[in-house]
Amino acid sequence: MAAPARFSDLPDYAFPRLRKLLDAHPPGGDPVLMAIGEPTHPMPPFVADVLRESVEEFRPYPPNEGAPDLLEAIGAWLGRRYGVRLGPERLLVLNGTREGLYNAAMALCPETKGGRRPAVLIPNPFYQAYMVAALSVGAEPVFVPATAETGHLPDYGALPADLLDRAALAYVCSPANPQGAVADRAWWLRLLALAERHDFIVLADECYAEIWRDAPPDGVLAAAAEAGADPERVFAFHSLSKRSNLAGLRSGFVAGGEKGIAAMRRLRAYAGAPLPLPLQRVAARAWADEDHVDASRALYRQKYAIADEELGGLPGYEPPAAGFFLWLRTGDGEAAALRLWREAGVRVLPGAYLGRDDGRGNPGADRVRVALVAPCDEVRRGLRLIRERL
Ligand SMILES: Cc1ncc(COP(=O)(O)O)c(C=O)c1O
Repeated sequence: MAAPARFSDLPDYAFPRLRKLLDAHPPGGDPVLMAIGEPTHPMPPFVADVLRESVEEFRPYPPNEGAPDLLEAIGAWLGRRYGVRLGPERLLVLNGTREGLYNAAMALCPETKGGRRPAVLIPNPFYQAYMVAALSVGAEPVFVPATAETGHLPDYGALPADLLDRAALAYVCSPANPQGAVADRAWWLRLLALAERHDFIVLADECYAEIWRDAPPDGVLAAAAEAGADPERVFAFHSLSKRSNLAGLRSGFVAGGEKGIAAMRRLRAYAGAPLPLPLQRVAARAWADEDHVDASRALYRQKYAIADEELGGLPGYEPPAAGFFLWLRTGDGEAAALRLWREAGVRVLPGAYLGRDDGRGNPGADRVRVALVAPCDEVRRGLRLIRERL
């Protein structure tokens, strides 16, 4: 009998699972869509003009690593945002962070570590690309709870030393999707010291870095600069999808050690799909502009305030420090999502669909994820309905 096709045992992605759960039932009211984290705030005002001016540039093949003006705009943004100076040799343009987070494992994960199968550390719950990346390179994905007990970030330092010695890569998401937790400087410094001790690489998914409540989240590159960390241990991933409400542009970047970036660039030269040049021109303008980012953040601040007003005092509600999700404790999250849909037309995602049962249970099982991306009055209506039903 033929062996099963590779990846044939992957679970359905979260959203097909949600459709299966909910779509057999009519909504119990005018639908409020709070399941998908797709930004809906206005795009920056210059997108159409830049595209028009650069339309001829659809003709040539785009540069694989990113056009010089885009790399320069990214380098300048990193300097303003994190106080770090990185040249183009330490940057690589991506088609959004998802592609880069996946391909980083392809480029950087060794086939063995210390003669054994490498491990890839993954927070649980997690963005699903991390797991498929680990499986694609034949590594063992190790799911590490990122729950209320651990401050909603994974406590990699609590893992057995033998497992840490086998770790080749550690994914971190800060600000975290779905929890909205933020790694502070002390947390990053501890992780960098652990990575040094056990010789693994940190892949920091910081695609929500610009959506925050009170203070801009710290970043791994700034912490690495303070610690004088080996640059080859640290790779940070950023995106315009959330920062600039340009999810459809498919534009992000990775910044890190020169050798690791060169390895990713080489792989990409064979297998990547470089971002079309006119889109790179839009991206360069977007990284150079903060006005549209401030305007979008002001709208998110209104939504945080609405969440506090509508859900404050509810035992399962913890105000997020950043990002645009609520990670609400509801009891059985699948049952809660079904009830909210059938009784009120509110569509949220069961937390279990973002987590994995690691033998101690699924850390999202008693939660739902609520996206604060709809217009403010819709968000208020949805949260009020949630409050009434929970
Ligand atoms: C945690 C996290 N990482 C990465 C991504 C991928 O974003 P993009 O590829 O649009 O940059 C997302 C998108 O929702 C996300 O939530």
